[in-house]
Amino acid sequence: MSSYAVQLAAHQQKYTQAIAQARHTGAQGFTAWFNREAAQDATQAMVRGFWDFGMHILTPPVCAHLDRPERRSALEIGYGGGRLLYAASHFFGWVHGVDIHAEAGYVAQQLRAAGRHNFQLYRTPGDVLPIADASVDLVYSFIVLQHLPRYTVLVRYLHETRRCLRAGGVAQLYFGRFGRLHALHQVRWWWRGYREVPHATANQISLVVRVGVMRRLCATLGLQVLAHGSSYYRVPDGYPTQRGGQSYVTLYRG
Ligand SMILES: C[S@@+](CC[C@H](N)C(=O)[O-])C[C@H]1O[C@@H](n2cnc3c(N)ncnc32)[C@H](O)[C@@H]1O
Repeated sequence: MSSYAVQLAAHQQKYTQAIAQARHTGAQGFTAWFNREAAQDATQAMVRGFWDFGMHILTPPVCAHLDRPERRSALEIGYGGGRLLYAASHFFGWVHGVDIHAEAGYVAQQLRAAGRHNFQLYRTPGDVLPIADASVDLVYSFIVLQHLPRYTVLVRYLHETRRCLRAGGVAQLYFGRFGRLHALHQVRWWWRGYREVPHATANQISLVVRVGVMRRLCATLGLQVLAHGSSYYRVPDGYPTQRGGQSYVTLYRG
């Protein structure tokens, strides 16, 4: 196996184990694991899921490309415990969720118990979207790409995003903000344009990328950059004064 494959397998195992452990602590521990900032219990997770989905994902440039959403589909990279997917399933006709963990059965059961049936969950080895070419209208990801083990995995996911999007589709992708690095580290990693922390534990930040580098990469892969910006902590409590630890790009597949 190549070092890339070994590292990806280790990454998946690390998250699979940590999330399985969280599940054994009970429903509350499971929910809290995915978003400690704003999800202490299931109700809070679902309410904040709607806020995050509304404010971080359904931005005006995204909405401008999504007429008749009841006929459209969305795909989440890293659906975790399903709080954003739950919100997305109210806004779209169909939603796909992709994650590396092994708790899809449990999350699906919770979503069905909450009355949602227009979704499908898939397990990925960590750099693949197991969805047909040109089949989705929106790809989104929040608090996930900052946990990738390598920059190359991000490149793979951008290729996959382009492949899965229909012509005219959009993507709203959040990734680790380069500006969260200490100033000395920013200087050190500036020319490379990103910093990887390969041995980070599950849920630690392992990848931050400069927005300029991300923009160039997307353009090279044939994805037009419509907008870029940053996340906010605990929306709406911290909005708009508390900038979060993620940057985003809004992408268009022509
Ligand atoms: C902090 S949680 C966020 C979950 C969800 N997006 C939310 O906002 O509630 C991070 C999730 O990313 C998933 N993840 C980490 N690396 C991944 C990868 N390479 N591909 C897909 N999902 C990944 C983890 O398994 C975990 O479910």
